[in-house]
Amino acid sequence: MQLPRYIAHRGLSEHAPENTLAAIQAAADAGCEWIELDVQYLGDGTPVIWHDATVDRCSDGRGALIDMTREDIRRLDVGSWFSDDFRGERMALLDEALSLVSALDMGLNLELKLNPGHDAEMLAGVAVHRARQVLPQDRLLVSSFDMTALEHARSRDDALALGLLYEAVPRCWASDAERLRPFSVHADWTRLEQERLIEVQAAGLALLCYTVNDPERFASWWDHGVDGVFTDDPGLFDARYQRQ
Ligand code: G3P
Ligand code: CA
Repeated sequence: MQLPRYIAHRGLSEHAPENTLAAIQAAADAGCEWIELDVQYLGDGTPVIWHDATVDRCSDGRGALIDMTREDIRRLDVGSWFSDDFRGERMALLDEALSLVSALDMGLNLELKLNPGHDAEMLAGVAVHRARQVLPQDRLLVSSFDMTALEHARSRDDALALGLLYEAVPRCWASDAERLRPFSVHADWTRLEQERLIEVQAAGLALLCYTVNDPERFASWWDHGVDGVFTDDPGLFDARYQRQ
């Protein structure tokens, strides 16, 4: 699998409400080849693209996602909090997002987001099954902070590209990698240690950093060989940092 240097985080979330169809379209319009989206499921089992445990921050409603049904979330406006230009945007179902990513011929890093009350096996099962029905193997990378969710994803698809998602990469990352056979390790760049970067790449895995919106402060990590970044706006990066 060939990943670009820049992956649009939650879609092009600097310019459109995060994790919406509008943010996916904006990323494509800006020329992004890959995006990252968060998936979780509602109380009725419907998988949706959403980051938080509640709808409070990014909609005109309130409450926990796990207490809501598909009918409930369809009534929410998830665009106005960002700007009036996106008034009336609806929460994206996973199936809608997958169809759009496929139609736009982009790659997707789908993060299995295990908020409280969610079951790792159920989320991994439904998300991997649906994503693999729509996207080719080389356009799908499934990641999670939850290693149990990744174990279930691996058991469902032996060839699936997996990303181990950490805040600080732990010393025991290699035992997770041995078990899960990932493609990549994803790390909070503000907590990255050069020793871990070297170990991960020596094992043949890609090292991706999140969420990088300060190109100047990040610049030295390119010199250390980081493979790519999640950013809210790839347009922030000066051409001199781009791969030749
Ligand atoms: O996958 C990288 C990044 O998205 C993880 O953090 O909180 O933005 O989902 P968060
Ligand atoms: Ca995410």
